[in-house]
Amino acid sequence: MRADLDPRLADRPEGLHIAPMTNGDIRAVLRIESLSFSTSWPPSAFTSELNDNKLAHYFVGRARSGADGDAVVAYGGIWVILEDAHITTLAVHPEQRGKRYGERILVHLLHEAIERGASWITLEARESNTVAQSLYRKYGFTTVSTRRAYYSDNGENAVVMWAGNLRGELYRNRLAALERQLNAGSQP
Ligand SMILES: CC(C)(COP(=O)(O)OP(=O)(O)OC[C@H]1O[C@@H](n2cnc3c(N)ncnc32)[C@H](O)[C@@H]1OP(=O)(O)O)[C@@H](O)C(=O)NCCC(=O)NCCS
Repeated sequence: MRADLDPRLADRPEGLHIAPMTNGDIRAVLRIESLSFSTSWPPSAFTSELNDNKLAHYFVGRARSGADGDAVVAYGGIWVILEDAHITTLAVHPEQRGKRYGERILVHLLHEAIERGASWITLEARESNTVAQSLYRKYGFTTVSTRRAYYSDNGENAVVMWAGNLRGELYRNRLAALERQLNAGSQP
C-alpha cells in the first residue's frame, strides 16, 4: 500500500509519523543504531536490506526532535517469508524512549506482517534486554528457547520469542485492544 494512502501512516496527535524507510533515512538510522546496540549493522546491511531483499520491510518513525524539526527517532524491520515473519531490528533514539514510539513501530510491524500473510512472528533479544522483552510480551510474544552465546561481542545468550496465530480472532482482538489504548494515550 502506498504510504500516503495508508491511514496508519497519517500524522497522529502523538507525533510519530511512520513511513517506509528509504535510502535517504539510512544515515539517521545508523546514528540511532550506534546509540542503541553494542554491535551495529554496517551501512551496507541497511542498503542491501532496502534495495536487494524483497522479503524485507523497514520503517522509520519521525517526530518533532528539538530545534531540528521532524527527525527520524525510531525504526524497525521485518522479513516476511510466506507465513513466517521475523523482526530483524527495532530501536528508538535514547533521548526519545518511553514515549511509546517503540510500541508504535512494533504495532506497525505486526500489521505489516499480518497484511503480508504471516501467521507467526519471531525475534531474538539479548537475555539482559528486559525492556524489549517486556514490550514484546505485552504484544503476546513468549520465550520459546534460548540460543547460547548468540551474541559474539560478549557471548550473551539470546532469547527467542514467538507470537503465533496472528491472523486468528484472539490475537487480532488483543492487538486491536492494545492499539485502542495506545491511541487513547491510556495504558492498562
Ligand atoms: C526496546 C525499545 C525499542 C522500547 O522503545 P520505547 O519507545 O522506549 O518503549 P515504549 O515507550 O514504546 O514502551 C512500550 C513498552 O515497552 C516496555 N518498556 C519500555 N520502557 C521500559 C522500561 N524502562 N522498563 C521496563 N519496560 C519498559 C514496556 O512493556 C512498555 O509498555 P508498558 O509501559 O505498558 O509496560 C527501546 O528501549 C530501545 O530502542 N532499546 C534499544 C534497542 C533495543 O533493545 N531494541 C530491541 C532489540 S530486540
